[in-house]
Amino acid sequence: MTTARRIDGKKMAAELSEKITRETAALLRDHGIVPGLAVVIIGEDPASQVYVRNKKRTAEACGFHSVQHTLAADSTLDAVLALIDALNNDSNIHGILIQLPLPSHLNEMQLTQAVAPGKDVDGFHFINIGKLASGNTGDAFVPCTPAGCMLMIEAELGTDLSGYSAVVIGRSNIVGKPMASLLLQANATITVAHSRTADLPGVVRNADIVVAAVGQANMVKADWIKPGAVVIDVGINRIEVSEDGETRSKLTGDIDYASVCKVAAAATPVPGGVGPMTIAMLMANTLRAARLASGLGLN
Ligand code: GUN
Repeated sequence: MTTARRIDGKKMAAELSEKITRETAALLRDHGIVPGLAVVIIGEDPASQVYVRNKKRTAEACGFHSVQHTLAADSTLDAVLALIDALNNDSNIHGILIQLPLPSHLNEMQLTQAVAPGKDVDGFHFINIGKLASGNTGDAFVPCTPAGCMLMIEAELGTDLSGYSAVVIGRSNIVGKPMASLLLQANATITVAHSRTADLPGVVRNADIVVAAVGQANMVKADWIKPGAVVIDVGINRIEVSEDGETRSKLTGDIDYASVCKVAAAATPVPGGVGPMTIAMLMANTLRAARLASGLGLN
């Protein structure tokens, strides 16, 4: 029986954040520029509040100028658009993130498309989506979660995925679709599976690389996995578990980690896998935005 390598996203993210911190200090020393990140949160979704707090903490640790705008759940579209417009025109702000999900009366597309493409550190603007889909990533912003997954896959298999088959489970705009574009660009042969896919276990069983982004706790089982596959778990699901007669809540991913580890070559845990890498990639995108806005090019 094999035991998969645990892909330590927490450690990788910490190393990446250290590098970003060093580069941020050099940017200030050599050019007098401090990367600025504005995070906008609308309403009181508890999970979003935790994510936003972590983003702010990491931004500050990297030496960024970090601002958070907390708006009431009943904010009007015009009020949010006015804030985005002000941030688009604020030269101290290089990256803008509108935390999702939004309250139901606000249209996600309208707000994400209002962010200036050069400040779109989430990579949700159609300009950045188009650049990624067409392989013109030179000055594009790639969504943080798939970008982080890609670094973890590269750490296992290298940057050229020629000959590997990859299955992405989930077709969201935030993860599934950009993930498929990145894998394709790295020469993998991709399948995007989703809730309407026939024989999902059979499809996944062909994959050398599995990225699960569906939001269903422990859905991907060991007998779905090709021996030796690399498995990336994007899911963050809160479940109730009973232990010693007590019920408590616990975070778990979309893969049944313990059993999958008996078959896979490597897998990401939840927590401590994709989550920290997503935040680190947001910092990388913000530093990148600051450099590009200042005409410095990328190093
Ligand atoms: N909510 C969950 N993931 C994300 C993300 O990557 N970006 C934003 N803006 N909101 C999210």
